[in-house]
Amino acid sequence: MKLASLLIYFLCICHTLHAQHHIIPEPVLFDSKNEVFTIDAQLDIALLSTDEKAKITTNLFQAHLKKLGLVSTISSKKEKNRLVVSLNNKPNKTLGDEGYFLEVQSKQITLKANTNAGLFNGFQTLKQLFPASKATGEVHNINIPGCIITDYPRFKWRGLMLDVSRHFYTVNEVKAYIDQMAAYKFNVFHWHLTDDNGWRIEIKAFPKLTEVGAWRVERTGRFGDQRPAPHPNEPKTYGGFYTQEDIKDVLEYAADRNITVVPEIDVPGHSMALLAAYPEYGTTSDFRYVSPGNKFAEWYGNGEFEMFVENMLNPANEKVYNFLDQIFTEVAALFPGEYIHMGGDECYQGFWEKNQEIQEFMKSNNLKDTHALQNYFVNRVDQIISSKGKTMIGWDEILDSDLSKNAAVMSWRGMEGGIKAAKAKHQVVMSPTTYCYLDYAQGDHSVENWIYASLNLKKTYEFDPTPEGVDPKYILGGQGNLWTEAVPKLSFAYYMTYPRAFSIAETLWSPKESKNWSSFFNKTEKHFERFDSTNTNICKAVYEPIVKVSLDGEKLMCELSNNVPGSEVYYTINNTYPVKFGKKYQKAFEIPEGDINLRTQCFRNGKPVGRILVLHRTKLLERAKK
Ligand code: ACM
Repeated sequence: MKLASLLIYFLCICHTLHAQHHIIPEPVLFDSKNEVFTIDAQLDIALLSTDEKAKITTNLFQAHLKKLGLVSTISSKKEKNRLVVSLNNKPNKTLGDEGYFLEVQSKQITLKANTNAGLFNGFQTLKQLFPASKATGEVHNINIPGCIITDYPRFKWRGLMLDVSRHFYTVNEVKAYIDQMAAYKFNVFHWHLTDDNGWRIEIKAFPKLTEVGAWRVERTGRFGDQRPAPHPNEPKTYGGFYTQEDIKDVLEYAADRNITVVPEIDVPGHSMALLAAYPEYGTTSDFRYVSPGNKFAEWYGNGEFEMFVENMLNPANEKVYNFLDQIFTEVAALFPGEYIHMGGDECYQGFWEKNQEIQEFMKSNNLKDTHALQNYFVNRVDQIISSKGKTMIGWDEILDSDLSKNAAVMSWRGMEGGIKAAKAKHQVVMSPTTYCYLDYAQGDHSVENWIYASLNLKKTYEFDPTPEGVDPKYILGGQGNLWTEAVPKLSFAYYMTYPRAFSIAETLWSPKESKNWSSFFNKTEKHFERFDSTNTNICKAVYEPIVKVSLDGEKLMCELSNNVPGSEVYYTINNTYPVKFGKKYQKAFEIPEGDINLRTQCFRNGKPVGRILVLHRTKLLERAKK
């Protein structure tokens, strides 16, 4: 009996040793070692550095251990210690500013880096070498597989954007979001602080921005088309904002996690909340309000749209620039990072075209049309931001201006803006809708809330920020954007962000050659377990079939596919179930006429994975006709 137990133990150890790791993002060099480090009751940590930041970073790791129910001690001596953390006296060129070296041996774990950022990243990897956390409390032996890792990032800008205007997220929620992204080695948090639906940052010179601009009437129904417009005296009960003290608190929290915060003040468009507070900076005397998501525009495709409600600043009003100067003075003083984002996207010029004062301003300034006027505005804002010692970054619409060379561009309308900007020698962050928009639906519209478009996990994994013909030195990196029109709470923000942020993290950190969908998918499944074990919401729509319908004359044809390696898709089209007893998908088939549902689901090793999709023929026909 004893012998049998020993044999099982040995087999388990061997399995652990040969198991592939599950680290996301994939490290540059990973070698497994034929040994295991076991943490029993306590982990002793030797921090061989007096660097204050390294101490904070090590304390954060200790706090993580505590959450897992593990006791640890930190000392400055090496003997008898088992996790040895140090900063290199002589920088190791390969590791650069954010890389690290991590070795797990049976008697010792060694973590080294040139910088504190490197140590922080190394700790994130070490955390992922732990088994998925169980409930806190009881301490069991924890086995960490032996390995040697040398790791450093591919890109300098590895960002996620959170829109806190469409829905407000508290300081603690923002911190939680930052904490989660730091675990995947993101290093830029782009904070979309202002928009039509709420102004969220205290500006001491202009208190009405938050007294008025941070609050709106509450509405339910789909954002953008189903919500009634507000009435003048309706109570404005939804909203919130960050005081400057709150912001400093978030900045410190982010800095401890190797995250730079880039604030966005979105002008001249997306300014309904600003104009509700200070209507004199617009062009009309219309009734002003902070938008609760009522219908405010018609979208005609191809980037063409018409606004029904003015949300643009008046570029002919010199007082607007004075106002913005004071806002950016306070923003620049608060945020220590290099970049300030000025938005610049989706500017509807119809109100400018109708305004006499603006037309005269254009004439006297030799501006031939409203595009030239927008360029003028962007350049004025660029000068303001530069005068504060910061670098302006904006959405790719700003490229239409004669931008100063030092302004950076965030490409969102596909990659084209980024390509053009890089060719014009601007620094570029790629965050195209096609790969990086985390508000888009992750799976079939019958089971996922539909807003604007779809973007599945596999597609996000295909993202590469350096298209051919572009000098990579102009590509700072990339970013996933979470717009929150349809994301009212943190748990859903996680759901929309993950697992697609895993893809983006791996693209931005790992060598391009090491990317592999199948291996990434296996790792993602392990991270599903991690999220589940901490009860953190995550989307598993990747397990579901992808349904494509088309019309072949009168026939409604259907193709099914899926992105789960080693799985099969089954379906029925005769109103029978379970789907397991239906047909295995081989090739495109016709959906016969009648009161018919397509039922489909993925199976792996005979077991269902993901939800069953049930789609009525009428719905499929509608899709095919679109
Ligand atoms: C954007 O999505 N309007 C930048």
